Amino acid sequence: MSLTRLIIKEVITAEEDSIYEKKFALKLLNNKKEISDFEFYDDYKKSIKDESEYLSEPLLFVGGGAIPISPILISEHNINNITIMDIDEEAKIIGEKIIKKLKLNFDFIIDDAIKYNNYSKFNCIFIALEAGITINQKKEIFNNINKQISSKETVIVRSSKTDDFIDVSNIIYNYFKIIDEIDIFNGLSKSYICKKEII
Ligand SMILES: C[S@@+](CC[C@H](N)C(=O)[O-])C[C@H]1O[C@@H](n2cnc3c(N)ncnc32)[C@H](O)[C@@H]1O
Repeated sequence: MSLTRLIIKEVITAEEDSIYEKKFALKLLNNKKEISDFEFYDDYKKSIKDESEYLSEPLLFVGGGAIPISPILISEHNINNITIMDIDEEAKIIGEKIIKKLKLNFDFIIDDAIKYNNYSKFNCIFIALEAGITINQKKEIFNNINKQISSKETVIVRSSKTDDFIDVSNIIYNYFKIIDEIDIFNGLSKSYICKKEII
């Protein structure tokens, strides 16, 4: 089932999505599923292809979850220096096992994007749709990143166009300059390609 069909069929919350990822991860670790069986696999693959011109390394992926499908598919675009961050310790433990099983070599750190203090180590900071589950958390994440980066880093921010997840379209301009906007997940979400400033 595609992400579009799942969202139309039933409202999925960020919490339900995390639980789904953990359940799927256990099936993958038990060899009952392949990564390409992940229900949103095709949606992610197409979205990342469209976002790929703005990827660079080292890349920090914020909110990787138990199935870090975005970082996994990002690595198909010749980006190998990837660090994944998640606030949820269980997601990190399972996500690390998935990465190892797929013979990928990413760092996985546990931290809160609102408090993390090493953003300037990266050239590309990629923020998952569900990293920050309220508009205030999104504001705090953007503010924390904005304080630490310079004009060189690219920040990729996924934002919902439906009520199911957070829409940052009204606040993102307060923190970053937008250099491109890309429709993703069949037009249900958008990726904002941002810089702190354009020089
Ligand atoms: C369900 S995942 C979706 C990401 C998806 N697996 C991918 O590869 O694109 C979103 C993750 O963001 C994490 N998250 C939410 N708020 C966060 C924060 N403030 N800092 C770091 N991670 C956060 C959640 O714990 C969750 O695991």
